[in-house]
Order: sequence, then structure tokens, then C-alpha cells
Amino acid sequence: MGELPPLVIFGCGYVGTRLAKAALAQGRVVKVCARGVARLQPLGELGAQVVWLDAAKSKQFGPALTSCRGATVVYSIPPPAGLPAGEAVRRAAKAALEQGASCFIYLGSSGVYGNIADPEWVDEETPVAHDDGAMAPRLHDETAVQIAAGAGLRTAILRLGGIYGPGRGVRVRLRKGNYELIDGGHHFISRIHVDDLVAVIFAVEARAPSNALYIVADDRPTPQREVALWICQRLGLPEPLSVPAFASGRPRATQRGRRLSNAKLKRELSFEFRYPTYVEGEQAIEAEETLVSG
Ligand SMILES: NC(=O)c1ccc[n+]([C@@H]2O[C@H](COP(=O)([O-])OP(=O)(O)OC[C@H]3O[C@@H](n4cnc5c(N)ncnc54)[C@H](OP(=O)(O)O)[C@@H]3O)[C@@H](O)[C@H]2O)c1
Repeated sequence: MGELPPLVIFGCGYVGTRLAKAALAQGRVVKVCARGVARLQPLGELGAQVVWLDAAKSKQFGPALTSCRGATVVYSIPPPAGLPAGEAVRRAAKAALEQGASCFIYLGSSGVYGNIADPEWVDEETPVAHDDGAMAPRLHDETAVQIAAGAGLRTAILRLGGIYGPGRGVRVRLRKGNYELIDGGHHFISRIHVDDLVAVIFAVEARAPSNALYIVADDRPTPQREVALWICQRLGLPEPLSVPAFASGRPRATQRGRRLSNAKLKRELSFEFRYPTYVEGEQAIEAEETLVSG
């Protein structure tokens, strides 16, 4: 196997940090970018180049990509306020094309499908919801990525399920006591363990065709209530309260229930999940927590 290309992460937060650590462990050149660079210092100590970058400002992405010819760029910034929708991604992809990046991977959201009632499954062919205002910026981002693909950049859009892992997800919120079931928690949610997401990013980088689109979620969409009760039982916590999605005097609780199909990801990339359901994933988190505290 030849030398792996440099990896540049625009928006290095929870996923980016886990991704950067995995790439550093492979001996790769890694550049991590965000506004809060102090938070990224531990990655700097592991050998990453830390770059301050604000996607809402002009002339940010080109300078961050200098000396990174052939890089894989992972774009992991939520749509920033203060710019027209899609503009930050358009600028990042343009810079990636101009600086000779070999691959541009956009971390998007499966929220673009809106709320789909059980028992329907969602795949890459399912029409997106155009009546969900909160998700409109994501659709503009996706369009910007597709335009860059048309201009010759090798791109992939990943529509992600709910990301969970050590320090993130239902478990953390249950411990803090701020997790609520919506309408009893009977709607299905698809999830992805952060380390499987990292592995998907590497598989996309290695094997995906250009202008690719994948849903990224594990094998088992699960009712919100099932996961919460399973974790509560393990932690000895009481069952969380249920709130109505619509109630006067409080904002509408967000509920984008759906079952995401990962068939295309498995078929095209021969991807195998390390954590095919929340049970394996949550057990791995417990093992990691025990290791850290022990
Ligand atoms: N968590 C989920 O379940 C989920 C589901 C679907 C999609 N997603 C999306 O997947 C991506 C990765 O998720 P994540 O959990 O890793 O998110 P995260 O922890 O919030 O990381 C996002 C990163 O973007 C940086 N950022 C935000 N605004 C920026 C700006 N204007 N300029 C430069 N950097 C900026 C943040 O750092 P600074 O604030 O320090 O700049 C942070 O490092 C995000 O786009 C997220 O919205 C997440």
C-alpha cells in the first residue's frame, strides 16, 4: 500500500477529533481546523497541525490547504450563520479543487428526509423533505458539493444518523438528567457509532466513486424509548420523562423519526460494521469508560 494522502479536517469537533486520532495512528499528515484552537491542542501534541479557521469569514479555506496537494478533505462544519446557505461549503470545495485535493467528503445529515412515519424505510433514492426549514441549509450545502463534483472534484456526501460514542449521545444526557422521550419515544431513530463513522470515511476515501452519496447508519433503527430504557437499566437510572411533540408554551420538540437503510454503503463499499446495533456500541462505550476510570 502506498503512502496515505494528507488529511485535512474542516471543523474538527467530536467526529473530527476521533478521525484525526485514527489518521495520526496510521502515520498520516493531519491538519485540523476550527475556531476554538485551544481545544485542539491535545491533537497538536499528538502531531496534528492545528489551524485557526472561521468558515463564516472570507479567504479561509485556500490558505488552510496550502502544502497539502492530493489531500483528502473532510468538511464537518455545521452551516454557519452570517453567510448565504451553501456558501461556506462552496468556498471550501472550490479551494479543494484549486489546491489539488484528491477527495472532498461532506458530513451532512439524514435530517434532510424529515419525519417519516414507521414502517417506511429511507434510502438514497427517497425524496428529501423540502418543507423542513431547519434542514434547508443542509440541502444548499449538498448542492454546493454536487456542483464541485461537476467541476471535477472527487466528492462524497454522507447523510448521517445520530452520532453516538464515548462522551456523546443518549447515555451522557441521561446521566445529566436532561434527556426526554418525545410522545412516549415510539418513533424510530437510526444511529451510528463514531468509530464506525470514522471507518466509513476511510472506506469512502479509498473506494467511493465520485459524486457519491451514502446514508450512514447502523443495521438497527430503534425506537427512542428502547435505547433510553436499555441504558437506564445498565446505569440504574429512572426512566426519562416523556413530553408531547406539540405543547402550548414550549417550542415544538424536534422529532425526525425514520429508519435509515445502509444497504448501499454495504453493497458499494463492502463496508462491515463493527457496531451493527446500539447494543454492541453501548457495550464498547462501557468498556472504554471502565478502562479510563480504572
Ligand atoms: N451529532 C450528530 O448526531 C449529527 C448528526 C448528523 C449530522 N451531524 C453533523 O456532522 C458534523 C460533525 O458532527 P460533530 O458531532 O463532530 O459536530 P461538532 O462536535 O459540533 O463539531 C463541529 C466542528 O465545527 C467547528 N465549527 C463550527 N462552526 C465553525 C466555523 N464557523 N468555522 C470553523 N469551524 C467551525 C466547531 O469548532 P469551533 O466551534 O471551535 O469552530 C467543531 O469543531 C457536523 O456538521 C454535524 O452538524 C451531526
